[in-house]
Amino acid sequence: MWQIQKTIGCSLLLALLSGALPAQQAQKVQPDLLTVIDSALQKAVLQYKYLGTQLPADVLPKTYYPLTKKFETSKSSWWTSGFYPGSLLYLYEYAKDPALLAEEKRIEKIIEKEQFNKGTHDLGFMMFCSFGAANRLAPSKEYEQILLNSAKSLSTRFNPTAGVIKSWDHGDWKYPVIIDNMMNLELLFWATQFSGDSSFYKIAVTHANNTIKNHYRPNNSSWHVVDYDISDGHVISKKTHQGYADNSAWARGQAWGLYGYVVMYRCTKDPTYLAHAKKIAAFIMQHPTTPEDKIPFWDYDTPEIPATYRDASAAAITASALLELTKYVDPTSGNSYTGFAEKVIRSLSSPTYTALYRQNGGFILKHSTGHLPGNSEVDVPLTYADYYYIEAMLRYKALKAKK
Ligand code: GLY
Repeated sequence: MWQIQKTIGCSLLLALLSGALPAQQAQKVQPDLLTVIDSALQKAVLQYKYLGTQLPADVLPKTYYPLTKKFETSKSSWWTSGFYPGSLLYLYEYAKDPALLAEEKRIEKIIEKEQFNKGTHDLGFMMFCSFGAANRLAPSKEYEQILLNSAKSLSTRFNPTAGVIKSWDHGDWKYPVIIDNMMNLELLFWATQFSGDSSFYKIAVTHANNTIKNHYRPNNSSWHVVDYDISDGHVISKKTHQGYADNSAWARGQAWGLYGYVVMYRCTKDPTYLAHAKKIAAFIMQHPTTPEDKIPFWDYDTPEIPATYRDASAAAITASALLELTKYVDPTSGNSYTGFAEKVIRSLSSPTYTALYRQNGGFILKHSTGHLPGNSEVDVPLTYADYYYIEAMLRYKALKAKK
């Protein structure tokens, strides 16, 4: 038997070398994705331990500019402050390395004051990716209070006339809501479940319903920014901030929407949200500009495609969302979602996107785009790309462990 396998192995290798193997069969000889993921997670643990050594006290990692070798950090009030601790906790869950947990505890002290920050809609990202995960792993009264206070702070930004949570306090907008805001609602569901106060739940559902109504286009892509007039709740304008054009589909915005409506379905079991998530998934997966490796360009509609930048962060968010969505649908749809996510994870785990140890400022992934029109964070690593990539890999492992 062993001899037969060995012979088949040799002929496959010969066929591959001679280029005689059909593409479908060639794919079969790729390493098993679970093996790829284990190797990627082990590398991620080492890389993040190195990242920790690069970090000055009291700040969070943000990005790294490979050309100038500039390592950029942020204060706790910046919207990405929850991703580094969140990634540390995911990696700790995987590796059980106490150094990762100790570093996360150090960071908690830096960001906990943000529970009272009423000047941002990003408290879900900041507090739920960090303290939400910490509380899931080791529930405590202290964590619960921090999370509840964060949900209360976020709720102060809800306007009942417009029925939405305000995103930004800056700019020339009146009451701007960005599609990204869908990601902050999970914190509100947690708060209702924990406290029994249904007002958080109602805010989340109202915001999500108005976002379906006002942010989504007939082709199931989303505008980035919708500005409301809170005197009567009417929409003043629909624009972009980080996308190519007002009517284009900014890649990360599509990913935030997909992930957000998958969470909405998980938390409410309302089939409207499932149907909406499926439509967004179809937009992303079937888009003609989605490249073969499934890492999208930074905007699906930029005319510069293919001579423009990718956004690994959008791909990571999408993969993670699809791996949850797959649990809520029929097996055929589920297989297509899982298959797409598998391709994304494989691509991100390749040397094209995964940095070498101690390179890339200590971040895991290369080639994300933060804000191209603002000429900021273009073709760089980003903490949230790493976070959702790690999450996607852990979700994949959990999915396969169940089968
Ligand atoms: N939430 C901000 C961004 O995705 O760039």
